[in-house]
Amino acid sequence: MRMTVFGTGYLGTTHAACMAELGHEVLGVDVDEAKIERLRAGEVPFYEPGLPEILRRQVEAGRVRFTTDYAEAAEFADLHFIGVGTPQRKGEFAADTSYVEDVVARLAPLLTADAVLVGKSTVPVGTAARLQEIADWHAPAGVHVEVAWNPEFLREGFAVADTLTPDRIVIGVREPGGPVEETVRGAYAPILDSDPCPVIVTDLATAELVKVSANAFLATKISFINAVSEVCEAAGADVTVLADAIGMDPRIGRRFLGAGLGFGGGCLPKDIRAFMARAGELGADQAMSFLREVDSINMRRRERMVDLATEACGGMLIGKTIAVLGAAFKPDSDDVRDSPALNVAGMLSLKGAQAVVYDPQALDNARALFPTLAYADSAIEACEGADVVLVATEWAEFLELDPAAVTAVARGRIMLDGRNCMPADDWRAAGWTYRALGRGV
Ligand code: UGA
Repeated sequence: MRMTVFGTGYLGTTHAACMAELGHEVLGVDVDEAKIERLRAGEVPFYEPGLPEILRRQVEAGRVRFTTDYAEAAEFADLHFIGVGTPQRKGEFAADTSYVEDVVARLAPLLTADAVLVGKSTVPVGTAARLQEIADWHAPAGVHVEVAWNPEFLREGFAVADTLTPDRIVIGVREPGGPVEETVRGAYAPILDSDPCPVIVTDLATAELVKVSANAFLATKISFINAVSEVCEAAGADVTVLADAIGMDPRIGRRFLGAGLGFGGGCLPKDIRAFMARAGELGADQAMSFLREVDSINMRRRERMVDLATEACGGMLIGKTIAVLGAAFKPDSDDVRDSPALNVAGMLSLKGAQAVVYDPQALDNARALFPTLAYADSAIEACEGADVVLVATEWAEFLELDPAAVTAVARGRIMLDGRNCMPADDWRAAGWTYRALGRGV
């Protein structure tokens, strides 16, 4: 099949490259000329394991190409995926859907044949119906445009695997069983033929809500364990053992019970806020008000980490050096959007500490966002002269740090584990005081 993918962020680039990998002919579209140039050269503009190899291979094979030209895109295919961003609006909780709307308003008038526009972005429920109206309004006479919704569940760091072997495919259409469903299924046919997964066909509103509900549930699960971890700290209990124990109940499950600095990134935090805002607009504001608590539990963990660091420094951060290991919002990503690690480093620095940040992949993005923080080129360099070592993102290389090597360069012997990921016994055996969020023991 021939198809376009609008938006070349994490979602769009992964989708375009993977669709080509499945054998389709793909045209990626973006308004950012510089990004398009890099993609044309087969270069992924962000860190995502496994994606550069696929993109390079498919660019070389000519199965994926990139353009900024909407007219070329309109001409290229009758199936258009939309994966542009829906960021949080400035000063508000609601999502900004203007980028998705712009794509439809600019593309529809250029279409010369009937087309299917498939939204993949995370949007407030009701957006697809509005996009249908925009498409109807802008499409030339005689050209029928149909909007479908096909939410994306990929995780950064696992984007390729999540796209090529999804848990499920959700397709929202106005008429289930009709030709639009058939077209969208066609895009996934190579997956469904070789390694089938459940396909849920539903209406547009349900498809939109599936995605925000999934992210809200994941955020709630993380905040649940983090709330329990506050009690564990107060009671002298261990949240990691507790999470193992409750997670063994298959109705609960251990995944996303990782207590620590909580969730960040470009999705979970903004999605729960947008969900609350949209529920309010629909008159169901009470239904989602618990998400406000989910959000504040999450933000409290960051402050707790700063308090722990202050305690570790004898009550005063001025004049102290703290190595902050991690800047990305999670490992295997260079994404620093709403990163708990950088937020904590920023707070430490505002309170007078010298926070020295190291991350294996996210240093450039971190420097661009927080230019005034100090940065190091390795974990050991960050630990040089540090009074406290704080692990904020659970990169594998931090878990493998040799306590003896850190002991040789650090000033203090205090390890603060913000992700409950470090081998506590090894550090204690090397003479370090080990403290972690949610482990009062
Ligand atoms: C999330 C969802 O997991 C994806 O399914 C979804 O497609 C994506 O958002 C999206 O909407 O595009 P992602 O933001 O890549 O994916 O990251 P997650 O793996 O969900 O992690 C989110 C945050 O939660 C990270 O900061 C992570 O450190 C934190 N987390 C995760 C915890 O604090 N504890 C856990 O147990 C798990």
